[in-house]
Amino acid sequence: MSKKVFVKTYGCQMNVYDSNRMVNTLKPHGYEVTDTADEADLVILNTCHIREKAAEKVYSEIGRLKQTKMDKAATGKDMYIAIAGCVAQAEGAEMMRRAPAVDMVLGPQTYHRLPEMLASAAMQRADGRTSSRVLDTEFPIDTKFDHLPEESDFESAAAFLTIQEGCDKFCAFCVVPYTRGAEYSRPVADIIAEAKRMAAGGVIEITLLGQNVNAYHGLLENGETAGLGFLIREVAKIEGISRIRYTTSHPRDMEEDLILAHRDVPECMPYLHLPVQSGSDNILAAMNRKHTRDEYFTMIDRLRAVKPDLALSSDFIVGFPGETDEDFEATLDLVRRVKYAQAYSFKYSARPGTPASTIEEQVPEDVKTERLYRLQALLNEHQQEFNEKTLGTEMDVLLEREGKLPGQLIGRSPYLQAVHVDLTKANNQLAADADKPYTHFMGSLVRVKIVEAGPNSLKGELVGVLRQQVGHGH
Ligand code: SAH
Ligand code: SF4
Ligand code: F3S
Repeated sequence: MSKKVFVKTYGCQMNVYDSNRMVNTLKPHGYEVTDTADEADLVILNTCHIREKAAEKVYSEIGRLKQTKMDKAATGKDMYIAIAGCVAQAEGAEMMRRAPAVDMVLGPQTYHRLPEMLASAAMQRADGRTSSRVLDTEFPIDTKFDHLPEESDFESAAAFLTIQEGCDKFCAFCVVPYTRGAEYSRPVADIIAEAKRMAAGGVIEITLLGQNVNAYHGLLENGETAGLGFLIREVAKIEGISRIRYTTSHPRDMEEDLILAHRDVPECMPYLHLPVQSGSDNILAAMNRKHTRDEYFTMIDRLRAVKPDLALSSDFIVGFPGETDEDFEATLDLVRRVKYAQAYSFKYSARPGTPASTIEEQVPEDVKTERLYRLQALLNEHQQEFNEKTLGTEMDVLLEREGKLPGQLIGRSPYLQAVHVDLTKANNQLAADADKPYTHFMGSLVRVKIVEAGPNSLKGELVGVLRQQVGHGH
């Protein structure tokens, strides 16, 4: 009998990857995916603990699900609620107490045990036991990667592939080393095998993922280890893979070989997310980021020397404990010097268990708000400038999803800009000639002329098809 699972994913791309893997673990057990909780026999919330707001969202969602579960129970239908991800890892036991509607709590390293957990919860429920609940937040010795089934289908021509997990950096503000555990790199051969299956399944672009992706040092079959630069070169050799990205990198781990991969490997996209968090040496030190502002500039110079068109992106935290006006001005100054194509910025959020949360000198909320506003205004200005520079140029775009307007598909430029392409007959002779519905172009790598540049996206017209994808147009 077929059952339905609804997965809601919060947080980073590694959670997106994990959610897909969880679904693939459940498929052999008769589960199909649904996109509403109402229809689901099993609801999985794959959660994020990075900032307070992210964690709070989970509890409000559980509140809503509790009602759905009760409504279903009233009509004699069973529903299980499972909480996965970083909130599960960080406060699993507390969550069990605080949210009795939750049946299962599983940490990011135990997803391969999901079917077992489900079976055990179901058995206990059938026995009429009241405490039919499972908590599994261990860091098992066997890794989930060895046990998760081989992924079966890829929904998009652009896919994520986790190559590294965990973090040993212990930045003073961050929960990741606690929720994801120690740094672990998957062996090279496993990653290449997975990338080949992706390519065979129609994937054109692979984003290699890790909380600290450039700290990657995976085992080779000869017992030696290889870094990310090597891995990128290997993935680039796989037929069908035209684009490679990687995220998230730490400035401390930009090895020479990785920098050179940007020069030597055409598949390596000219975009790098290299979070700096702050432009002040005092704050960088207090954050335990292990590099100075000048070292960061040197790194950027080095990268731009080998890849002049490299687009850069970053994460910023404003209002880290002890951040003065001067520190904040140093961040604005860094931003003006680097000029990011895109960036994410956040107000510092004290996270339980992290060293920074115990610092007494916290920055007042209104100061954080004002700093964030000023930083974002500057970042947006640069992003708009970057986008405008592409006006009138032609770029390769991988069409990944449908847009809001009929006849519109959305894809990414090499610089990760979202590009909206209108494929209706009136607007595009190429599309009309193909005499196919516009969705026929889904998953294709196309050549596009940029005709409009907004702050968050570009508009383009199709000028050619570089690679037509089969199997992705529904
Ligand atoms: N490994 C990545 C970051 C992962 S978390 C790196 O080293 O850069 C993603 C981003 O969330 C971080 O870059 C940081 O900007 C933000 N972040 C992490 N902890 C935070 C906190 N306690 N408050 C506010 N922002 C935070
Ligand atoms: Fe968190 Fe720092 Fe590790 Fe990034 S490098 S995951 S910010 S501890
Ligand atoms: Fe969030 Fe965990 Fe990712 S805390 S950002 S889901 S590693």
